[in-house]
Amino acid sequence: MSKPHIIAVPFPAQGHVMPLMEFSQCLAHQDFKVTFVNTEHIHKQVMNALADESHIRNDHIHLVSIPDGLEPGEGRNGPAMLFEATQAVMHKNLEELIEKINKGEDERISCLIADDSCGWALEVARKMKIARVVAFWPSAAATLVLNLSIPKLIHEGIINNDGTVLKYQMVQLGPKMPTIKSTNFVWACTGNSSTQKILFQFMEGTNKNVKLVDRLVCNSAYELEPAAFALEPQILPIGPLLASRRLGNSAGSLWPPDSTCLKWLDEQPPCSVIYVAFGSTTIFYQTQFQELALALELSNRPFLWVVRPDICDNPLYPEGYQDRLGSRGLMVSWAPQQKVLAHPSIACFISHCGWNSTMEGISNGIPFLCWPYFADQFIDESYICDVWKVGLRFDKNESGIITRGEIKNKVEKLLDDEDFRARALKLKEMAMTNVNEGGQSNKIFKSFIEWIKS
Ligand code: UDX
Repeated sequence: MSKPHIIAVPFPAQGHVMPLMEFSQCLAHQDFKVTFVNTEHIHKQVMNALADESHIRNDHIHLVSIPDGLEPGEGRNGPAMLFEATQAVMHKNLEELIEKINKGEDERISCLIADDSCGWALEVARKMKIARVVAFWPSAAATLVLNLSIPKLIHEGIINNDGTVLKYQMVQLGPKMPTIKSTNFVWACTGNSSTQKILFQFMEGTNKNVKLVDRLVCNSAYELEPAAFALEPQILPIGPLLASRRLGNSAGSLWPPDSTCLKWLDEQPPCSVIYVAFGSTTIFYQTQFQELALALELSNRPFLWVVRPDICDNPLYPEGYQDRLGSRGLMVSWAPQQKVLAHPSIACFISHCGWNSTMEGISNGIPFLCWPYFADQFIDESYICDVWKVGLRFDKNESGIITRGEIKNKVEKLLDDEDFRARALKLKEMAMTNVNEGGQSNKIFKSFIEWIKS
């Protein structure tokens, strides 16, 4: 019998490709055929990363690519540029790809799942009358609730029509919801007004996309965000995705992970290592980079630090740093993060609070030290510190720096208080219960499968 054929379209960035690939793997395990469409640029990165990881298999996932409309040398890190380019050309490229698949020997596409940020893909699915159209939301449900609240925020005079913040205040969209400063709204924390406007339009676009689809699934769980799901019941939680396949290998990584750090972790005492990682796009100023380096040295604990080659204009360590540290600290350019967080030697996670990193820490019962930069990361920080109470935030000094003293003190405060670890373990149990047989996310996932097969 032929398998239902799903086409999956992520937004072209690490934090979006990874979770949609996890979801696609879950679907492939349920006997679906999945064609996974990256941009050519991302596809090359994925294939390069996979070349080093020959043990990773994607038997039922067909990795393909389409051009994103940018020239090879053009910067793809700025979200604004990517949004504009993808909107402009990718719908045509996707349409041609689907036509080609449907004319070929493969099963016809019966379902399209696209990142909710890819309205163009959802529009193509509607235009081509694909039977089932699904939006995938890779971040917190609360972030989508914030987007959907834009008309209310305008009505209350907190922002104006182009997203500019008019009132500086703390905002909580409902009881038990995370709390954020209006200046930290997803679109407002870029510090650049033209990027802000493009991002704001984009966020408004995600609200329209929600209306285009038959189902809207989210990488979260009811118990993690009950207030957000109560406010927007159309959002269906099917996560945390990695909790179901936690130690499996994902083919969604854009860089080959340096697995030697797992050996180093094996040599560290249980619950002793500070893991430090800031996702795929966060950039540091040189002064802050050095301050963090010195803080980790001062902490007197083992640490594993992901220092991406592009994390800083000039990632210079303080003089004599590596000699002084010896084997106590290990720096890698990209880690197998899910495996690292599942390692028994990890004590805490200094994180930028991207939603994937948040879910990965939560699913392993790890307490956090939060260092958010932009986008949804401030919402995630509030979940961690205020709602779930499994982490602490850092305070900046008057020059906007998080000092080595502040970092050292917060590490000690977090690790000396066993309640953080106890609450984190409880949260892990809750997350696992959701994705295990009989759990809420598991039931929603199963009924989703029945719906696609029906
Ligand atoms: C971005 C946004 O910053 C984030 O806030 C949003 O929720 C998704 O898009 P990113 O900054 O990359 O993502 O962070 P995050 O969501 O945490 O995703 C990073 C992914 O890369 C995680 O799945 C993590 O496991 C992986 N990773 C990170 C590695 O595999 N190795 C590393 O060394 C670092």
